[in-house]
Amino acid sequence: MQYQTRLVSHFKDRSIDQHGTGWSELWDSNQNDLWDRGYASPPLLEFITTKPDVLAARSSCGRRRTVLIPGCGRGYDPVMLALHGFEAYGLEISQTAVATARRYADAQMKEPSAYNFWTSSDKERVPAGEVTILEGDYFKDNWLEGIKGEHKNFDAVYDYTFLCALPPELRKAWADRAAQMVRAGGLLICLEFPLWKERDLPGPPWGLDGVYWNLLAQNGNGIDGVGDGGAAAPNARFTREFYIQPQRSYEQGRGADRLSVWRRTPN
Ligand SMILES: C[S@@+](CC[C@H](N)C(=O)[O-])C[C@H]1O[C@@H](n2cnc3c(N)ncnc32)[C@H](O)[C@@H]1O
Repeated sequence: MQYQTRLVSHFKDRSIDQHGTGWSELWDSNQNDLWDRGYASPPLLEFITTKPDVLAARSSCGRRRTVLIPGCGRGYDPVMLALHGFEAYGLEISQTAVATARRYADAQMKEPSAYNFWTSSDKERVPAGEVTILEGDYFKDNWLEGIKGEHKNFDAVYDYTFLCALPPELRKAWADRAAQMVRAGGLLICLEFPLWKERDLPGPPWGLDGVYWNLLAQNGNGIDGVGDGGAAAPNARFTREFYIQPQRSYEQGRGADRLSVWRRTPN
């Protein structure tokens, strides 16, 4: 497919520490059409709408729950979550992406599009929360200053087209960072994509079939032993509570997308 070829050739032969700059170049030259889906993740919307007992926008004491979306792009998912009452944070390494997402957030919080709601009546029912778009590198700490309140971790983190955008050598670091960012008892929610793409083909996006299980349940590095199945490690930092075939997802998922929902253990 053409979009893969352009992305793959843009990142070909780039060293790992040049990937962030690579994404910023794409944003600065208006090439975000290569991955921009145009609307919030339907499987995430389905999850928060159908399972409010698992992830509600407010805790039992009335505190707004916090959600981080690293590599949030134009900000579709943080905005959708804020429209459902969450305190949502989008994080982007690209300055241009941050400016674009802030404009999008301002416009949508005033006049939301219908795609942000599972049914049209939800729009009237749900009181909005807040969205903040931060600039920074997920693997560094300086952007954490922009988080309100004393806690510098989150009730939930959502991953969509972020892990698949990272070179495979960074997968272990991604999992370690997720374990820091999700508070004990909180959730890591992953829209697993692309599951149809063979893992040894070049990316981005890199094929992720079996990768989340290896990283999160088996404490693997997301490269060796992936796809062999196998049991979860007793000292895993996450346990998988749901593995959902969503009713609706993006056509780029080719019907293979799965939403995996992981609880952070105290390990
Ligand atoms: C494939 S795009 C997906 C964007 C968004 N999730 C979406 O679905 O539209 C990956 C995004 O991650 C951002 N990104 C890449 N590395 C990052 C990092 N280390 N920290 C924060 N953002 C990063 C890029 O700028 C890019 O916008």
